[in-house]
Amino acid sequence: MTEKKVLIAYGTRYGATEGVAIKIAEIFRDNNVLADVVNLKEKSDFDNFDDYDGLIIGSSIKIGQWTRDVKNFVRNMRLEIQKLTGPFGFYVCSGYASLDEQYAKVKEEYIPDKLTEFDISINYYDAFGGLIDFSESSKMGWLEKKIMKLAGSQATGLPVEEEYTDLRDWDKIEKFALGYLELIKV
Ligand SMILES: Cc1cc2nc3c(=O)[nH]c(=O)nc-3n(C[C@H](O)[C@H](O)[C@H](O)COP(=O)(O)O)c2cc1C
Repeated sequence: MTEKKVLIAYGTRYGATEGVAIKIAEIFRDNNVLADVVNLKEKSDFDNFDDYDGLIIGSSIKIGQWTRDVKNFVRNMRLEIQKLTGPFGFYVCSGYASLDEQYAKVKEEYIPDKLTEFDISINYYDAFGGLIDFSESSKMGWLEKKIMKLAGSQATGLPVEEEYTDLRDWDKIEKFALGYLELIKV
């Protein structure tokens, strides 16, 4: 029996979405499913997804938006995504997704609502928390840090007083990966 192979294509700004893509791929490999993990900033020129048994797209969220690379990828590959026969999964890493009272809302806003604009429907998706990094080595610039602080003062629960917080729930991410494997193995 040949091994199944999934494409995990992601766009990240500060690294959270990339880390999730790598984790999902590790879980797949532990379950004998291969994964190509592709940063859409480095490669986005696919003709089709014929080499793959499934596709997962991951995106960072900033001011309510996917990365430009994710947007372009979805736009360019719209027809191929619509005719996928294997499972199509989508996840985002977002600050608000870590807040219980915002999670359900942003999960819909950041994934199915946006995909509707491209005439794409989805039934396997989730929103995970992200990184809040005010440290010296942060990839966030001063303006981005300022926006984060402002968001933190408006939405209670975002830990903007800490220097560095990783809001990703790895158990939830593992559940997402294992649930996807169920879809691909049937
Ligand atoms: C300038 C800025 C704007 C942000 N805007 C949002 C937002 O609109 N909604 C949200 O849920 N999270 C927002 N975040 C939090 C990011 O989603 C979080 O940092 C996440 O880690 C981004 O994914 P990435 O690390 O893969 O780039 C914002 C963060 C920054 C720095």
